[in-house]
Amino acid sequence: MRGTVAVVGAGNTGASWAGLFAAHGYAVRIFDQSQTAMSRALSRATAAAEFLAHKGLANPAVVQKGLSLIMPAGNLESAVDGVCLVQESVTDDLAVKRALFAEIGRLAPTSALIATSTSGLSITAIQEDTPAPGRTLAAHPYNPPHLIPLVELAPGVLTSPDTLDAAMKFYGGVGKEPVVISRDIPGYIANRLSAALWREAIELVRSGVATVEDIDRAVSLGPGLRWAIMGPHLVYHLGGGHGGIRGHLAHLTATKEGMLKDLASWTTLPGDTADILAAGVEAEARGRSLEELEAERDEALATIILALRQVKPGTLGDPAGLPGDAAVSQRGAAYSLRGGAGSSGDAVGPKERWA
Ligand SMILES: NC(=O)c1ccc[n+]([C@@H]2O[C@H](COP(=O)([O-])OP(=O)(O)OC[C@H]3O[C@@H](n4cnc5c(N)ncnc54)[C@H](O)[C@@H]3O)[C@@H](O)[C@H]2O)c1
Repeated sequence: MRGTVAVVGAGNTGASWAGLFAAHGYAVRIFDQSQTAMSRALSRATAAAEFLAHKGLANPAVVQKGLSLIMPAGNLESAVDGVCLVQESVTDDLAVKRALFAEIGRLAPTSALIATSTSGLSITAIQEDTPAPGRTLAAHPYNPPHLIPLVELAPGVLTSPDTLDAAMKFYGGVGKEPVVISRDIPGYIANRLSAALWREAIELVRSGVATVEDIDRAVSLGPGLRWAIMGPHLVYHLGGGHGGIRGHLAHLTATKEGMLKDLASWTTLPGDTADILAAGVEAEARGRSLEELEAERDEALATIILALRQVKPGTLGDPAGLPGDAAVSQRGAAYSLRGGAGSSGDAVGPKERWA
Protein backbone atom coordinates (compact mmCIF):
# COMPACT_ATOMS: atom_id res chain seq x y z
CA MET A 1 0.00 0.00 0.00
CA ARG A 2 1.29 3.44 -0.93
CA GLY A 3 -0.57 5.51 1.65
CA THR A 4 -4.06 6.84 2.11
CA VAL A 5 -5.81 9.61 0.22
CA ALA A 6 -9.18 11.22 0.81
CA VAL A 7 -11.60 12.25 -1.90
CA VAL A 8 -14.03 14.81 -0.51
CA GLY A 9 -17.04 15.34 -2.77
CA ALA A 10 -17.94 12.18 -4.64
CA GLY A 11 -19.81 13.25 -7.76
CA ASN A 12 -18.54 12.62 -11.29
CA THR A 13 -15.09 14.04 -10.67
CA GLY A 14 -14.51 12.65 -7.18
CA ALA A 15 -15.57 9.12 -8.16
CA SER A 16 -13.23 9.10 -11.14
CA TRP A 17 -10.31 10.41 -9.02
CA ALA A 18 -11.05 7.72 -6.43
CA GLY A 19 -10.88 5.02 -9.12
CA LEU A 20 -7.54 6.33 -10.36
CA PHE A 21 -5.98 6.53 -6.90
CA ALA A 22 -7.19 3.03 -5.99
CA ALA A 23 -5.88 1.69 -9.30
CA HIS A 24 -2.44 2.98 -8.32
CA GLY A 25 -2.40 1.27 -4.96
CA TYR A 26 -3.64 4.00 -2.61
CA ALA A 27 -6.15 3.28 0.12
CA VAL A 28 -8.96 5.71 -0.72
CA ARG A 29 -11.51 7.18 1.65
CA ILE A 30 -14.52 8.79 0.03
CA PHE A 31 -16.58 11.41 1.79
CA ASP A 32 -19.66 13.18 0.50
CA GLN A 33 -22.48 14.94 2.29
CA SER A 34 -24.87 12.69 0.39
CA GLN A 35 -25.03 8.99 1.27
CA THR A 36 -26.44 8.24 -2.18
CA ALA A 37 -23.55 10.03 -3.85
CA MET A 38 -21.08 8.00 -1.77
CA SER A 39 -22.61 4.66 -2.75
CA ARG A 40 -22.77 5.67 -6.39
CA ALA A 41 -19.17 6.87 -6.22
CA LEU A 42 -18.00 3.54 -4.84
CA SER A 43 -19.45 1.68 -7.81
CA ARG A 44 -18.19 4.27 -10.29
CA ALA A 45 -14.70 4.25 -8.78
CA THR A 46 -14.66 0.45 -8.84
CA ALA A 47 -15.76 0.41 -12.48
CA ALA A 48 -13.12 3.02 -13.38
CA ALA A 49 -10.28 1.10 -11.68
CA GLU A 50 -11.40 -2.20 -13.20
CA PHE A 51 -11.57 -0.56 -16.62
CA LEU A 52 -7.96 0.61 -16.24
CA ALA A 53 -6.88 -2.92 -15.32
CA HIS A 54 -8.94 -4.46 -18.13
CA LYS A 55 -7.34 -2.16 -20.70
CA GLY A 56 -3.79 -2.72 -19.48
CA LEU A 57 -3.56 0.81 -18.10
CA ALA A 58 -3.07 -0.39 -14.51
CA ASN A 59 -1.64 -3.47 -12.86
CA PRO A 60 -4.59 -5.81 -12.10
CA ALA A 61 -3.02 -7.01 -8.83
CA VAL A 62 -2.55 -3.42 -7.64
CA VAL A 63 -6.08 -2.54 -8.69
CA GLN A 64 -7.46 -5.48 -6.75
CA LYS A 65 -5.52 -4.43 -3.66
CA GLY A 66 -6.58 -0.80 -4.06
CA LEU A 67 -10.21 -1.78 -4.44
CA SER A 68 -10.06 -3.84 -1.27
CA LEU A 69 -9.00 -0.66 0.56
CA ILE A 70 -11.48 1.86 -0.86
CA MET A 71 -14.18 2.84 1.61
CA PRO A 72 -16.74 5.48 2.45
CA ALA A 73 -16.02 7.66 5.48
CA GLY A 74 -18.66 8.51 8.05
CA ASN A 75 -17.50 12.10 8.41
CA LEU A 76 -14.85 14.54 7.23
CA GLU A 77 -12.63 13.96 10.23
CA SER A 78 -12.33 10.21 9.68
CA ALA A 79 -11.97 10.77 5.92
CA VAL A 80 -8.82 12.88 6.25
CA ASP A 81 -7.27 11.13 9.25
CA GLY A 82 -3.68 10.11 8.43
CA VAL A 83 -3.91 10.88 4.69
CA CYS A 84 -1.09 12.13 2.47
CA LEU A 85 -3.44 14.00 0.13
CA VAL A 86 -6.99 15.32 0.07
CA GLN A 87 -8.60 15.73 -3.35
CA GLU A 88 -11.52 18.09 -2.78
CA SER A 89 -14.11 17.70 -5.55
CA VAL A 90 -17.31 19.24 -4.17
CA THR A 91 -19.69 21.49 -6.09
CA ASP A 92 -18.05 24.60 -7.54
CA ASP A 93 -19.19 27.06 -4.88
CA LEU A 94 -16.63 29.37 -3.34
CA ALA A 95 -18.24 29.68 0.09
CA VAL A 96 -18.56 25.88 0.37
CA LYS A 97 -15.01 25.19 -0.76
CA ARG A 98 -13.53 27.91 1.44
CA ALA A 99 -15.28 26.58 4.53
CA LEU A 100 -14.30 23.03 3.66
CA PHE A 101 -10.65 23.97 3.15
CA ALA A 102 -10.64 25.67 6.56
CA GLU A 103 -11.98 22.49 8.16
CA ILE A 104 -9.75 20.11 6.22
CA GLY A 105 -6.72 22.26 7.09
CA ARG A 106 -7.60 21.85 10.75
CA LEU A 107 -8.28 18.09 10.58
CA ALA A 108 -5.75 16.69 8.09
CA PRO A 109 -2.15 15.79 9.04
CA THR A 110 0.23 18.74 8.80
CA SER A 111 2.13 16.89 6.06
CA ALA A 112 -0.92 16.38 3.81
CA LEU A 113 -1.39 18.15 0.49
CA ILE A 114 -4.85 19.66 0.10
CA ALA A 115 -5.91 19.99 -3.53
CA THR A 116 -9.06 21.36 -5.12
CA SER A 117 -10.38 20.06 -8.44
CA THR A 118 -12.13 23.36 -9.13
CA SER A 119 -12.63 24.24 -12.78
CA GLY A 120 -13.58 27.84 -12.29
CA LEU A 121 -12.83 29.16 -8.81
CA SER A 122 -9.67 30.83 -7.58
CA ILE A 123 -7.40 28.74 -5.37
CA THR A 124 -6.23 32.00 -3.80
CA ALA A 125 -9.79 32.67 -2.68
CA ILE A 126 -10.37 29.06 -1.60
CA GLN A 127 -7.23 28.91 0.58
CA GLU A 128 -8.00 32.19 2.36
CA ASP A 129 -9.43 30.78 5.60
CA THR A 130 -7.44 27.59 5.96
CA PRO A 131 -4.84 27.38 8.74
CA ALA A 132 -2.26 25.84 6.37
CA PRO A 133 -2.60 27.63 3.03
CA GLY A 134 0.97 26.76 2.03
CA ARG A 135 -0.04 23.11 1.57
CA THR A 136 -3.04 23.87 -0.65
CA LEU A 137 -3.20 24.07 -4.42
CA ALA A 138 -5.48 23.57 -7.38
CA ALA A 139 -5.08 20.22 -9.14
CA HIS A 140 -7.51 20.49 -11.99
CA PRO A 141 -8.27 17.28 -13.88
CA TYR A 142 -9.70 16.94 -17.34
CA ASN A 143 -12.76 14.74 -17.56
CA PRO A 144 -12.63 11.80 -16.91
CA PRO A 145 -9.74 12.09 -14.42
CA HIS A 146 -9.04 8.34 -14.35
CA LEU A 147 -8.24 8.38 -18.07
CA ILE A 148 -7.14 11.80 -19.27
CA PRO A 149 -3.47 12.24 -18.31
CA LEU A 150 -3.55 16.03 -17.93
CA VAL A 151 -3.71 17.59 -14.49
CA GLU A 152 -3.16 21.35 -14.25
CA LEU A 153 -1.45 22.39 -11.03
CA ALA A 154 -1.94 25.99 -9.98
CA PRO A 155 -0.71 27.75 -6.86
CA GLY A 156 -2.64 30.32 -4.89
CA VAL A 157 -0.69 33.31 -3.63
CA LEU A 158 -0.04 31.47 -0.34
CA THR A 159 0.90 28.08 -1.83
CA SER A 160 4.48 27.10 -1.03
CA PRO A 161 6.85 26.00 -3.82
CA ASP A 162 7.43 22.72 -1.91
CA THR A 163 3.74 21.94 -2.27
CA LEU A 164 3.93 22.21 -6.04
CA ASP A 165 7.01 19.96 -6.09
CA ALA A 166 5.30 17.37 -3.90
CA ALA A 167 2.14 17.56 -6.03
CA MET A 168 4.15 17.03 -9.21
CA LYS A 169 5.56 13.84 -7.69
CA PHE A 170 2.24 12.62 -6.35
CA TYR A 171 0.24 13.10 -9.57
CA GLY A 172 3.14 11.86 -11.72
CA GLY A 173 3.09 8.72 -9.56
CA VAL A 174 -0.54 7.98 -10.46
CA GLY A 175 0.09 8.24 -14.17
CA LYS A 176 -0.80 11.90 -14.60
CA GLU A 177 1.06 14.40 -16.77
CA PRO A 178 1.11 17.53 -14.60
CA VAL A 179 1.33 20.96 -16.19
CA VAL A 180 2.23 23.69 -13.71
CA ILE A 181 0.67 27.09 -14.17
CA SER A 182 2.62 30.00 -12.72
CA ARG A 183 -0.44 31.71 -11.29
CA ASP A 184 -4.06 31.35 -10.54
CA ILE A 185 -6.05 32.35 -13.65
CA PRO A 186 -9.67 31.50 -14.52
CA GLY A 187 -9.89 28.27 -16.52
CA TYR A 188 -6.18 27.43 -16.29
CA ILE A 189 -4.86 26.57 -19.78
CA ALA A 190 -7.03 23.83 -21.26
CA ASN A 191 -10.44 25.25 -20.39
CA ARG A 192 -9.48 28.73 -21.62
CA LEU A 193 -8.50 27.24 -24.96
CA SER A 194 -11.64 25.09 -25.01
CA ALA A 195 -13.80 28.13 -24.30
CA ALA A 196 -12.20 30.09 -27.14
CA LEU A 197 -12.73 27.23 -29.58
CA TRP A 198 -16.25 26.49 -28.37
CA ARG A 199 -17.40 30.11 -28.80
CA GLU A 200 -16.44 29.96 -32.46
CA ALA A 201 -17.96 26.47 -32.82
CA ILE A 202 -21.27 27.76 -31.43
CA GLU A 203 -21.18 30.76 -33.72
CA LEU A 204 -20.57 28.57 -36.77
CA VAL A 205 -23.72 26.60 -35.91
CA ARG A 206 -25.78 29.69 -35.15
CA SER A 207 -24.82 31.38 -38.40
CA GLY A 208 -25.68 28.26 -40.41
CA VAL A 209 -22.16 27.55 -41.66
CA ALA A 210 -22.31 23.88 -40.65
CA THR A 211 -24.19 21.47 -38.41
CA VAL A 212 -23.16 20.58 -34.86
CA GLU A 213 -22.14 17.16 -36.13
CA ASP A 214 -19.98 18.47 -38.97
CA ILE A 215 -18.24 20.94 -36.70
CA ASP A 216 -17.50 18.14 -34.23
CA ARG A 217 -16.20 15.98 -37.07
CA ALA A 218 -14.04 18.82 -38.38
CA VAL A 219 -12.40 19.13 -34.96
CA SER A 220 -11.98 15.48 -34.02
CA LEU A 221 -10.95 14.19 -37.48
CA GLY A 222 -8.52 17.04 -38.17
CA PRO A 223 -6.86 19.20 -35.56
CA GLY A 224 -7.99 16.93 -32.70
CA LEU A 225 -5.95 14.02 -34.04
CA ARG A 226 -2.85 16.17 -34.33
CA TRP A 227 -3.42 17.77 -30.94
CA ALA A 228 -3.34 14.33 -29.30
CA ILE A 229 0.27 14.18 -30.45
CA MET A 230 1.49 17.79 -30.47
CA GLY A 231 0.04 21.08 -29.31
CA PRO A 232 -0.85 23.93 -31.67
CA HIS A 233 2.57 25.59 -31.53
CA LEU A 234 4.56 22.54 -32.55
CA VAL A 235 1.96 21.67 -35.17
CA TYR A 236 2.39 25.11 -36.74
CA HIS A 237 6.17 24.77 -36.48
CA LEU A 238 5.79 21.79 -38.82
CA GLY A 239 3.31 23.70 -40.98
CA GLY A 240 5.98 26.28 -41.86
CA GLY A 241 8.13 23.92 -43.93
CA HIS A 242 11.88 24.57 -43.66
CA GLY A 243 11.22 27.91 -42.01
CA GLY A 244 9.43 26.31 -39.06
CA ILE A 245 7.26 28.54 -36.95
CA ARG A 246 8.90 31.70 -38.31
CA GLY A 247 8.20 30.55 -41.84
CA HIS A 248 4.63 29.73 -40.89
CA LEU A 249 4.09 33.20 -39.45
CA ALA A 250 5.80 34.90 -42.40
CA HIS A 251 3.51 33.14 -44.86
CA LEU A 252 0.29 33.10 -42.97
CA THR A 253 0.14 36.15 -40.71
CA ALA A 254 -2.21 38.07 -43.01
CA THR A 255 -4.44 35.01 -43.48
CA LYS A 256 -4.65 34.37 -39.74
CA GLU A 257 -5.33 38.03 -38.99
CA GLY A 258 -8.11 38.02 -41.57
CA MET A 259 -9.75 35.10 -39.73
CA LEU A 260 -9.20 36.67 -36.32
CA LYS A 261 -11.10 39.76 -37.44
CA ASP A 262 -14.02 37.57 -38.50
CA LEU A 263 -14.24 35.39 -35.37
CA ALA A 264 -17.03 35.63 -32.81
CA SER A 265 -16.17 37.90 -29.92
CA TRP A 266 -19.29 37.82 -27.72
CA THR A 267 -18.78 37.23 -24.01
CA THR A 268 -22.34 36.32 -23.06
CA LEU A 269 -23.72 33.07 -24.45
CA PRO A 270 -26.53 33.89 -26.92
CA GLY A 271 -29.98 32.98 -25.56
CA ASP A 272 -30.64 30.37 -28.26
CA THR A 273 -27.42 28.41 -27.55
CA ALA A 274 -28.93 25.59 -25.48
CA ASP A 275 -31.79 24.93 -27.90
CA ILE A 276 -29.58 24.98 -30.99
CA LEU A 277 -26.89 22.77 -29.48
CA ALA A 278 -29.35 20.31 -27.92
CA ALA A 279 -31.05 19.75 -31.28
CA GLY A 280 -27.67 19.32 -33.01
CA VAL A 281 -26.28 16.96 -30.41
CA GLU A 282 -29.44 14.85 -30.45
CA ALA A 283 -29.08 14.41 -34.19
CA GLU A 284 -25.39 13.63 -33.84
CA ALA A 285 -25.94 11.05 -31.07
CA ARG A 286 -28.35 9.06 -33.28
CA GLY A 287 -30.15 7.51 -30.35
CA ARG A 288 -27.04 6.62 -28.34
CA SER A 289 -27.55 7.24 -24.63
CA LEU A 290 -25.12 9.27 -22.52
CA GLU A 291 -23.83 6.00 -21.03
CA GLU A 292 -23.23 4.56 -24.48
CA LEU A 293 -21.42 7.68 -25.64
CA GLU A 294 -19.33 7.68 -22.47
CA ALA A 295 -18.35 4.04 -22.99
CA GLU A 296 -17.45 4.77 -26.62
CA ARG A 297 -15.31 7.70 -25.54
CA ASP A 298 -13.52 5.72 -22.82
CA GLU A 299 -12.77 2.77 -25.11
CA ALA A 300 -11.24 5.09 -27.67
CA LEU A 301 -9.33 7.10 -25.06
CA ALA A 302 -7.75 3.93 -23.64
CA THR A 303 -6.72 2.83 -27.13
CA ILE A 304 -5.21 6.22 -27.94
CA ILE A 305 -3.32 6.40 -24.65
CA LEU A 306 -1.84 2.95 -25.20
CA ALA A 307 -0.84 3.88 -28.75
CA LEU A 308 0.81 7.11 -27.59
CA ARG A 309 2.73 5.19 -24.91
CA GLN A 310 4.21 3.06 -27.69
CA VAL A 311 5.30 6.13 -29.61
CA LYS A 312 6.48 8.05 -26.55
CA PRO A 313 7.63 5.45 -24.01
CA GLY A 314 7.71 6.69 -20.46
CA THR A 315 4.84 9.15 -20.88
CA LEU A 316 1.09 9.08 -20.16
CA GLY A 317 1.48 6.77 -17.20
CA ASP A 318 3.75 4.27 -18.99
CA PRO A 319 5.48 2.46 -16.11
CA ALA A 320 8.87 3.25 -17.68
CA GLY A 321 8.25 6.90 -16.82
CA LEU A 322 6.82 6.47 -13.34
CA PRO A 323 8.93 7.19 -10.28
CA GLY A 324 10.15 4.41 -7.91
CA ASP A 325 7.47 2.26 -6.34
CA ALA A 326 4.82 3.61 -8.70
CA ALA A 327 6.70 2.06 -11.61
CA VAL A 328 7.07 -1.22 -9.77
CA SER A 329 3.38 -1.31 -8.94
CA GLN A 330 2.40 -0.72 -12.56
CA ARG A 331 4.87 -3.00 -14.28
CA GLY A 332 2.51 -5.99 -14.32
CA ALA A 333 0.17 -4.06 -16.57
CA ALA A 334 2.86 -3.10 -19.04
CA TYR A 335 4.19 -6.64 -19.08
CA SER A 336 0.83 -8.15 -19.81
CA LEU A 337 0.29 -5.57 -22.53
CA ARG A 338 3.45 -6.60 -24.29
CA GLY A 339 2.14 -10.14 -24.24
CA GLY A 340 4.65 -11.69 -21.85
CA ALA A 341 4.05 -14.56 -19.48
CA GLY A 342 1.11 -13.84 -17.27
CA SER A 343 -0.47 -11.61 -19.86
CA SER A 344 -4.19 -11.82 -19.94
CA GLY A 345 -6.08 -11.83 -23.19
CA ASP A 346 -8.24 -9.06 -21.82
CA ALA A 347 -5.32 -6.78 -21.12
CA VAL A 348 -3.97 -7.11 -24.63
CA GLY A 349 -7.45 -7.24 -26.09
CA PRO A 350 -9.17 -5.43 -28.94
CA LYS A 351 -8.64 -4.22 -26.65
CA GLU A 352 -17.62 28.45 -12.94
CA ARG A 353 -17.33 30.38 -12.41
CA TRP A 354 -14.55 32.86 -11.44
CA ALA A 355 -14.96 34.44 -8.08
N1 LIG B 1 -17.45 17.69 -14.28
C1 LIG B 1 -16.31 17.96 -14.88
O1 LIG B 1 -16.12 17.72 -16.07
C2 LIG B 1 -15.17 18.54 -14.06
C3 LIG B 1 -13.88 18.51 -14.62
C4 LIG B 1 -12.82 19.04 -13.87
C5 LIG B 1 -13.05 19.58 -12.62
N2 LIG B 1 -14.32 19.60 -12.12
C6 LIG B 1 -14.52 20.18 -10.78
O2 LIG B 1 -14.76 19.12 -9.86
C7 LIG B 1 -15.64 19.58 -8.81
C8 LIG B 1 -16.84 18.67 -8.72
O3 LIG B 1 -17.53 18.69 -9.95
P1 LIG B 1 -18.52 17.50 -10.35
O4 LIG B 1 -18.85 17.70 -11.77
O5 LIG B 1 -17.94 16.21 -9.91
O6 LIG B 1 -19.78 17.85 -9.45
P2 LIG B 1 -20.94 16.88 -8.95
O7 LIG B 1 -22.14 17.73 -8.78
O8 LIG B 1 -21.04 15.66 -9.82
O9 LIG B 1 -20.44 16.40 -7.50
C9 LIG B 1 -20.27 17.27 -6.43
C10 LIG B 1 -20.46 16.47 -5.14
O10 LIG B 1 -20.06 17.30 -4.04
C11 LIG B 1 -20.92 16.96 -2.95
N3 LIG B 1 -20.83 18.05 -1.97
C12 LIG B 1 -21.25 19.34 -2.10
N4 LIG B 1 -20.93 20.04 -1.00
C13 LIG B 1 -20.29 19.19 -0.16
C14 LIG B 1 -19.71 19.33 1.14
N5 LIG B 1 -19.71 20.49 1.78
N6 LIG B 1 -19.13 18.24 1.69
C15 LIG B 1 -19.13 17.04 1.05
N7 LIG B 1 -19.66 16.86 -0.17
C16 LIG B 1 -20.23 17.92 -0.77
C17 LIG B 1 -22.30 16.77 -3.58
O11 LIG B 1 -23.14 16.01 -2.75
C18 LIG B 1 -21.92 16.05 -4.87
O12 LIG B 1 -21.98 14.63 -4.71
C19 LIG B 1 -15.98 21.02 -9.13
O13 LIG B 1 -15.13 21.88 -8.43
C20 LIG B 1 -15.71 21.10 -10.64
O14 LIG B 1 -15.39 22.41 -11.06
C21 LIG B 1 -15.38 19.08 -12.80
